[in-house]
Amino acid sequence: MDTINEIKQKIDIVDLVGSYVSLKKAGRNYKGICPFHSENTPSFMVSPELQIFKCFGCGEAGDIFKFVEKIEGIEFSAALEQLAVKAGIKLEKKDYDPESARRKELYQINSLTAKYYHYILTKHPQGKPGLDYLTQKRKLTPETIDFFQMGYAPDTWDSLHNFLKKQGIHENEMLDAGVISEKSSGDGYIDKFRGRVVFPFKGIDGNIVGFNGRTILDREPKYLNTAETAVFHKGTFLFNLVNARIDIKKHGAVVVEGQMDVISAYQDGIRNMVASSGTALAENQLKILQRYTNDLTFCFDADSAGVNAVYRAVEIAEKLGFNIKVALIPAPYKDIDEVLKAEPEKAKIAIRDAVDVYDFYISSTLKANSKESALGKKIILEALVPVFSKINNPVIVDHYSKMLATELGLSEDTVTTMFKGGTLGNYVGPEDDQKIPLLSRDNPEGYFLALLFKADIDIMREYAYKMDVEDFLNPIVVNIYEALVAYLKEDRKSFNIKQVIKKAEEGHHDNISELYLWDFDGIIEVESPQILEREIESVFKRIKKDSAKRAVKALTEKIKVAELEKDWDLVLKLTKKVEKLKKSFL
Ligand code: UTP
Ligand code: MN
Repeated sequence: MDTINEIKQKIDIVDLVGSYVSLKKAGRNYKGICPFHSENTPSFMVSPELQIFKCFGCGEAGDIFKFVEKIEGIEFSAALEQLAVKAGIKLEKKDYDPESARRKELYQINSLTAKYYHYILTKHPQGKPGLDYLTQKRKLTPETIDFFQMGYAPDTWDSLHNFLKKQGIHENEMLDAGVISEKSSGDGYIDKFRGRVVFPFKGIDGNIVGFNGRTILDREPKYLNTAETAVFHKGTFLFNLVNARIDIKKHGAVVVEGQMDVISAYQDGIRNMVASSGTALAENQLKILQRYTNDLTFCFDADSAGVNAVYRAVEIAEKLGFNIKVALIPAPYKDIDEVLKAEPEKAKIAIRDAVDVYDFYISSTLKANSKESALGKKIILEALVPVFSKINNPVIVDHYSKMLATELGLSEDTVTTMFKGGTLGNYVGPEDDQKIPLLSRDNPEGYFLALLFKADIDIMREYAYKMDVEDFLNPIVVNIYEALVAYLKEDRKSFNIKQVIKKAEEGHHDNISELYLWDFDGIIEVESPQILEREIESVFKRIKKDSAKRAVKALTEKIKVAELEKDWDLVLKLTKKVEKLKKSFL
């Protein structure tokens, strides 16, 4: 057996998922609140038989490896290592990602570097300027400094280099980790973060992936961070996600621009904050965040650069479907760090009372332009049209049209017309019937199979046999139905979904799992056999009726042709068929 299957045998998905999510038994499956999106009623299902999970809210699905990848935010190779340890299985060399040994070396160098700088900052006389800066100027407590493992890099050329060398680390490796740099002129190396307080960047698995250093000597640049390395990718890194993820799952995420904002907030008890760190927020960073929440509050600097950064961030976040709010920094402060230091309560209120993203657009546009002149009004409206013309919900558009009309002293018609400008022709109508997803009650065929899967095997057999393959339109349903019938014909005493899956076409295996896991809570009481059977009976009739209607229509066409050909025997035969169908099903 290969390692993956061996691990799967040892670890039960219900136990594994149950250690993160509280699960309740629901028929043959378990269900709970999905950890991958925010919801109030459970739509996250786990199947002990199939050893898979599936969320009917956000669509996440997979096996134990996928679950660990998602919930821990790690790659497959790391999930494999983690689960192997849990299963008590030793991985063979070939199971290891060849890059993984390399990454471990860099983690080790980073860890030594963080320890060294932390030691200098907190224990060594050379660290005094850094400590004074952090405690006096930035008002950080020793606990906060320890928690983030902050350090100080003395303003010397090679103290880290010498330290690491004594630990047996090669110069090449120090370069690869990005903690030293080659001198720009002449030979030799220099410590990268000289004269800076240093913040380690911790990845989601707790390893230190890189660093950021803020100058305390007023040098340029103000912040300097690790360039791309084998373990640090700034496009996907979020500062403090490792500490904040549980709180983010519960309360949504507050996204800020600077690490210092996060650190101050942490010290004041705000624990769901992350920073993008040294770059404009990127789509991939938000995708990572989406593993934990759909609720975002942007809390960027109050200056115009900050406002523009919010515009860009909102655009990306909207594309990904986040619920977005914007926290406004109260005057006269520049960023949330300043507010926290001066008036911590005000800072908390600013975050709590973050405004809806559309209110933010309006207030920031009004702030930046004068609404007194006609020209000013035109500029304001033109700035807002690109945003509001994209909104499809008429209630929202109406609300803001009214608000702006009042604000600008214009007629509502004028504003609405401008807002509507961009929406015409963009309207996407409902999908046609053929495309109704399998898992919809509006699709009786899929619903019928899902109900059968919940029933006792005798009921299953009875209805499966009463149905006819011609009664279904959907080719996926046809294939699954045929697999089910073939399975039931084998005279089974108890039901095993895995055997049904084996008989179906490979491409439909996921569809079967989905139908099997479909939770009917709030739709019908599947735990009661009578109620379940009545529902099956009524869906059965509906499908037969639809099928009969189609058959009658086809027969009527044939009768017309037979009449033209004066084939009266055929006409009689077909007419009898129609009558029989009408009597039975219509
Ligand atoms: P800010 O300059 O807004 O940071 O840059 P800040 O936290 O308010 O700085 P302090 O309060 O003066 O210490 C926001 C973020 O942009 C990155 C850093 O990650 C910083 O946290 N940055 C800023 C750089 O990478 N390089 C720079 O030169 C400046
Ligand atoms: Mn600041």
